[in-house]
Amino acid sequence: MKVDVLLGLQWGDEGKGKVVDVLTPKYDIIARFQGGPNAGHTLEFNNIKHVLHTIPSGIFRQDQVNVIGNGVVIDPIVFNEEIRSIKKLAVDIHKKLYISKKAHLILPSHRILDAASEASKGKTKIGSTLKGIGPTYMDKTGRNGLRVGDITSGNFKDKYLSLVEKHKQLLSMYNFEYNLIEYEQGWFEGIETLKEFHIIDSEHFINNELNKGKSLLAEGAQGTLLDIDFGSYPYVTSSSTICAGACTGLGIAPNKIGDVFGIFKAYCTRVGSGPFPTELLDSTGEELRRKGNEFGATTGRPRRCGWLDLPALKYSIMLNGVTALIMTKADVLSGFKAIKVCKKYNTTEGIIDYFPHDLSIVQYPVYEELPAWSTDLTEVRKSSDFPAELRNYINFLEEELNIPVKIVSVGPNRDQTIVR
Ligand code: GDP
Ligand code: IMO
Ligand code: MG
Repeated sequence: MKVDVLLGLQWGDEGKGKVVDVLTPKYDIIARFQGGPNAGHTLEFNNIKHVLHTIPSGIFRQDQVNVIGNGVVIDPIVFNEEIRSIKKLAVDIHKKLYISKKAHLILPSHRILDAASEASKGKTKIGSTLKGIGPTYMDKTGRNGLRVGDITSGNFKDKYLSLVEKHKQLLSMYNFEYNLIEYEQGWFEGIETLKEFHIIDSEHFINNELNKGKSLLAEGAQGTLLDIDFGSYPYVTSSSTICAGACTGLGIAPNKIGDVFGIFKAYCTRVGSGPFPTELLDSTGEELRRKGNEFGATTGRPRRCGWLDLPALKYSIMLNGVTALIMTKADVLSGFKAIKVCKKYNTTEGIIDYFPHDLSIVQYPVYEELPAWSTDLTEVRKSSDFPAELRNYINFLEEELNIPVKIVSVGPNRDQTIVR
């Protein structure tokens, strides 16, 4: 079978967790392929609200195997907390969760390095989630990293200490106070928890299962505009968030990719620093934040809000080979006077209709205004019950983007999902 991929087309928090949970019953395996606990994927069902950070969003369904792939970075402390809170919900997690031997470990000193690096940047800070993501991927590409497969080796502690030694040398270059010991005990407890799980050669497992006819949904984290190569660099994360990342992050060949589900909010948000052409710093932005409850699932920070950005969406669709679109948070737009969509950017180099190399050249977005609707969508369950203005909005997007909008989400709950 081919591998379907679901990934974010904006700056993250598009509702990936919710929709992966909804789609999970169609698949045998759900796999995360990049990122780490910088992700916060929110699921709501049966009066439960749960935020996942490292564990794939298929974990609450009955039979699916959930794989943390080689491209993911794992913090044993966060992982341990996640396991504890999932166990409270009576999920047989040991049976369902498999972890790649090649996934890299986030050390306490990676988190400290992240904080020291951000503090030293001052106003130009990335706005990182401070989960140690950047330093861990730096050690991966720098060929210094520790991997999950190392935890059972006799000299694991020595490997750990030698990497920490390198980090201490790096930290001495910053004027940054830290306390490593306060994290270390919890970290080693998390390592023991990791040992309780199926630690596997995930690339072999996945390819064998695909050859047997099993189906797999790859779950992206972050979003295309945070991709290390194609995002709004340097205000990005440190992994390949695009579809190609699913190949390297799981060990699947490009010709095994099937559908690519591109998910986007009916408007746009960004958390952390960096350019955001359609950002609204006025009462409309405030209204989007309030109605959309736009506060980070990992850090609680208020998300910056603005209108939908078509040049950015087109760019993301191109990079990922999106075959179907999923639009979330349509309900949040109910009650606005009008809806605006950015079609072009007015830049220091003239009007352009594409996502430029340097977003700071954008002076202001060129908008098209569309009629809004007042109907509350949260109880709507059929697309035939959509107000005419919402249908018009979707048709407009489908024409502009040339890809069908197959799913519309009208609330955070599993049931609030409409397949068209
Ligand atoms: P992810 O990181 O892409 O999984 O998204 P997050 O969980 O960080 O952020 C999405 C937020 O929107 C979460 O609080 C979800 O519960 C919520 N959400 C998802 N879909 C919808 C929707 O269609 N409408 C509303 N109002 N909230 C939604
Ligand atoms: P999910 O999977 C939104 C942002 C951070 C910061 C930048 C770099 O929930 O969509 P990092 O911690 O990776 O060094 O931060 O990326 N960021 C996210 N924004 N959703 C996320 O994940 C994010 N993960 C990282 O805010 O701007
Ligand atoms: Mg999130």
